[in-house]
Amino acid sequence: MRQLTTIESTRSALSAARVGKRLGLVPTMGNLHDGHIALVAACKAASDVTVVSIYVNPLQFGPHEDFDRYPRTPEQDVARLVAAETDFVFMPSDAELYPDGRSAQSSVHVPFLSGFLCGAARPGHFDGVATVVLKLLNIVAPDRAFFGEKDYQQLTLLRSMVRQLDVPTEIVGVSTIRASDGLALSSRNQYLSKDERAAAPPLHRTIRAIADSLARGSHDFTELERDGVAELERAGFRPDYVAIRNADTLRLPSPDDPLRVLAAGHLGRTRLIDNVGVAHR
Ligand code: PAJ
Repeated sequence: MRQLTTIESTRSALSAARVGKRLGLVPTMGNLHDGHIALVAACKAASDVTVVSIYVNPLQFGPHEDFDRYPRTPEQDVARLVAAETDFVFMPSDAELYPDGRSAQSSVHVPFLSGFLCGAARPGHFDGVATVVLKLLNIVAPDRAFFGEKDYQQLTLLRSMVRQLDVPTEIVGVSTIRASDGLALSSRNQYLSKDERAAAPPLHRTIRAIADSLARGSHDFTELERDGVAELERAGFRPDYVAIRNADTLRLPSPDDPLRVLAAGHLGRTRLIDNVGVAHR
């Protein structure tokens, strides 16, 4: 596996490697777990050359969020990527990606999709995500880029961004990898105390139960969302939202739309998110 840290060396290494090949990119913030490795596997299955980026992007963290304490484990990550037979890892510095500084940086804003659900709870977050992902797509120029359904709003917003800005990369979604009790794997799970970790499974259980009710024909979306919030509160969460949305647009659904159930809530100082699809009704 070749390790790259500059934009120039990445462009020149990939311009040779890509000739006649399908190039895939997996953007990450590192501290890699089995969810990230599933993206690498999906990328390898659909590509001849696999590039993983590791960059903890300051632009997508709010002023009171966990940027400083976000887990950074580069040696461990490199070892996992070697084991997963990754071809290239791109690990740029802040100065390499944002040489003019944060305040002078051009920014990508995806209207509507960045403003509700997680966007309402984390103002500016999705502008930071869209900006760094567009930069990575411009640097690596992959045929396909792979993102987890775990961050469903991010995936939906990035699909919209590449379509609206005519980026010639296909965005591919990959199913969520979970612990045996249902909790979606996340680097942030390690912030949870032992008791909080034990209290976390109801997040998945609640949205799973709502998805099952919807699949059986329930259609009182407001009541299902309200009951879901109450259930999370009983389980010790401070919920941000439980939402039933159109699975493609994340807009409020019409009765026959494909549906996605999404939830976010805090356990202590840790914010957890999850979502599930609804079987065809
Ligand atoms: P990060 O949280 O490191 O996640 C990198 C990718 O892994 C994302 O596409 C995310 O959805 C996916 N992922 C995380 N947990 C997963 C799980 N349990 N199962 C499947 N996929 C999972 O998301 C980001 O980084 C950043 O916002 C980024 C896109 C890299 C831009 O900075």
